[in-house]
Amino acid sequence: MKKIAVITPGGDAPGMNAAIRAVVRAGLKYNFEIFGIYRGYQGLLEKDMKQLNSRSVSGIIYQGGTILKSSRCEKIKTEQGLKQAIGILKEYKFDYLVVIGGDGSIKAASKISKHIPVVCIPASIDNDVYGTDETIGFDTAIDTAVSAIDKIRDTATSFERVFVVEVMGREHGHLALAVAVASGAEVVVIPEVKYDLDKIAKKLLKDKQKGKTSEILIFAEGAGDVKTFAIKLEAKINIPVRVSSLGYIQRGGSPSARSRILASLFGEHAVELILKNIKNKVIVIKNNKIGHIDINTVVSNENPINKNLLKLVEELG
Ligand code: F6P
Repeated sequence: MKKIAVITPGGDAPGMNAAIRAVVRAGLKYNFEIFGIYRGYQGLLEKDMKQLNSRSVSGIIYQGGTILKSSRCEKIKTEQGLKQAIGILKEYKFDYLVVIGGDGSIKAASKISKHIPVVCIPASIDNDVYGTDETIGFDTAIDTAVSAIDKIRDTATSFERVFVVEVMGREHGHLALAVAVASGAEVVVIPEVKYDLDKIAKKLLKDKQKGKTSEILIFAEGAGDVKTFAIKLEAKINIPVRVSSLGYIQRGGSPSARSRILASLFGEHAVELILKNIKNKVIVIKNNKIGHIDINTVVSNENPINKNLLKLVEELG
């Protein structure tokens, strides 16, 4: 019998609920006692928790967000906050902490793992976790952004305007790259590659000469100030440039089937690791195979961008 705590800190991602469900249902099969910690690390510091059973996770596989709620918690980044969190996990005699979250949440988990066994399940629309081809929620966020951009394309074509669409992703361009390929965007701007405004302007003017009626540029939020970018671009090309920031819609909505399947596989694998007393790992998917890697390897590396996708946008856009 093992006592485990499950937590979903930081930015939520569609499919987190499917992951909670998988951890709870797979864990109950082995008679684990499972507690949900509410409101992320902030809730942990406030001992906001409740035992979960099979019914607690009924009817949630299709729901976006997280039934455990979330928060941004600055205190967990301090020595004092960390010590307090570890003290609470020990006080409640948890054998394991399962963290379902992104980059920042896994970083905090790696510090906790020095004192309490931890297993992490990568979930973030940013896909910014090293070692995994995909995080839970990434696929859904791509779909959400693409369906919004398809609508923007309609009005862009009617007006012969240039649209700069800002997508999320924090300081990474993974989401922007995938969205750019899937929406047939003409240009993508990401933080990992310095952009050349003259080159972009030249391409757009050449496209116009060739009779192109709409232009969609995908701009990753981490690449700078999108409004300034648009003003400078408009001055160079003398074609109206409009900005559309997709914002938080990218983080919500019912998870895609792919995000749900990934979440279910990750959740079940996490329980299998706990059963075998394997600790301090991050569950990953690599070349379609579920596995796990050491948490310290994950937090000391960055997920590199997919250069093939960048090339595709340049070739096809
Ligand atoms: O990490 C997910 C994410 O949605 C990022 O893409 C974005 O930069 C950030 O969270 C927004 O954070 P907050 O929820 O604190 O506004």
